[in-house]
Amino acid sequence: MQWLSGKVALVTGGGRGIGRAVVERFIAEGARVCAMDLQGEDLATLPSHGDQLVTVVGDVRVYADNERAVRQCLATFTKLDIFVANAGIFDGFSRLDTISPSTLEEVYKQIFDVNVKGMLFGVKAALEPLKSSHGSVIATLSQASFYPDGGGVVYTASKHAGLGLVRQLAFECAPLVRVNGVAPGGTITQLTVPQPLENMVKPMGTEEKRKRIQSRNPLQIAQDPEDHAAAYVYLASNQSRAVTGEVIRSDGGLGVRGL
Ligand SMILES: NC(=O)c1ccc[n+]([C@@H]2O[C@H](COP(=O)([O-])OP(=O)(O)OC[C@H]3O[C@@H](n4cnc5c(N)ncnc54)[C@H](O)[C@@H]3O)[C@@H](O)[C@H]2O)c1
Repeated sequence: MQWLSGKVALVTGGGRGIGRAVVERFIAEGARVCAMDLQGEDLATLPSHGDQLVTVVGDVRVYADNERAVRQCLATFTKLDIFVANAGIFDGFSRLDTISPSTLEEVYKQIFDVNVKGMLFGVKAALEPLKSSHGSVIATLSQASFYPDGGGVVYTASKHAGLGLVRQLAFECAPLVRVNGVAPGGTITQLTVPQPLENMVKPMGTEEKRKRIQSRNPLQIAQDPEDHAAAYVYLASNQSRAVTGEVIRSDGGLGVRGL
C-alpha cells in the first residue's frame, strides 16, 4: 500500500538533509513532489523521478519565491495537498553571554527570517490551494521547540515560535486545512549557521556528532534524516485526518530523560 498515492506535496529545504529524505519517501509513497531549495546544486543531485518530481530554486525568506514555487507546483501537478515548511538554519548552540550585540542582531535576523518568516510566507502562499484540496501543512520543528539545550538562545526561540505557529495556524486554518509538526532530535545533517557564527562555532565531524547525540537521548540513537520521514508520511496522509495542532517528537525520547 502506498500512503500518499494521488497526493501533491511542496517541500522547502528539499535539496538535502531531512527535507530530501521527506522528498524521497513521499515519492516512494506515491506522491508527486515539488522540492524547493536555496541551493540549486543540491536539488540537481536529486535522482530523477520522471514526472513525480519537479524542483524550484528559491529563498523561503522572499514571498515572491514562495508564490513561484506554489505556481510551479500547480502548473505541473494541477493541485497542492501538502506543504512541508522544512528549510531552516541553526545557531551552533551559541549562548547569550558569548555573542556580541552586533552578531546577535545579525544572527537573530537571519535565523528568524528563515525559520519563522519563511514558514509564515510559505503557508500564506500555499493556503488557497491547500484550502481547495482540504490539504495539510507539516512544519519541521525541533527538540528545541520543547526543551533547552537543543540549540542556543536564538534557535530555541525560533523553534518555540514555530510551535506557536503550528498551534495558531491549526486553529485559523480549520476546518479546511490541518497543521501539524515533526520535531526531530539531533540528526546527522549539514545544518548550517549564519555567516557571523561560522568562525565561532567549533566544527564537529560526523562521528563526534553521532556520539554526542547518542549520549543525550534515552534510546541512544543518533538519528539520520530517514528516521523522521515516516512521521511526515503519517501526518500528510488521510490516516491522520483527525489530527491537527499536534507535533510528533522524533527525538529518541528526550521527554523521558528525567534529568
Ligand atoms: N539536524 C538536526 O539536528 C535538526 C534537529 C531538529 C530540527 N532540525 C530542523 O530540520 C530542518 C532541516 O534541517 P537539516 O538538519 O536537514 O539541515 P540541512 O542544512 O541539511 O537542510 C536544510 C535545507 O534548507 C535549505 N535552506 C536553508 N535556508 C533556506 C532558504 N532561505 N530558502 C530555501 N531553502 C533554504 C538548505 O539549502 C538545505 O538544503 C530545519 O528546519 C532544522 O531546524 C534539524
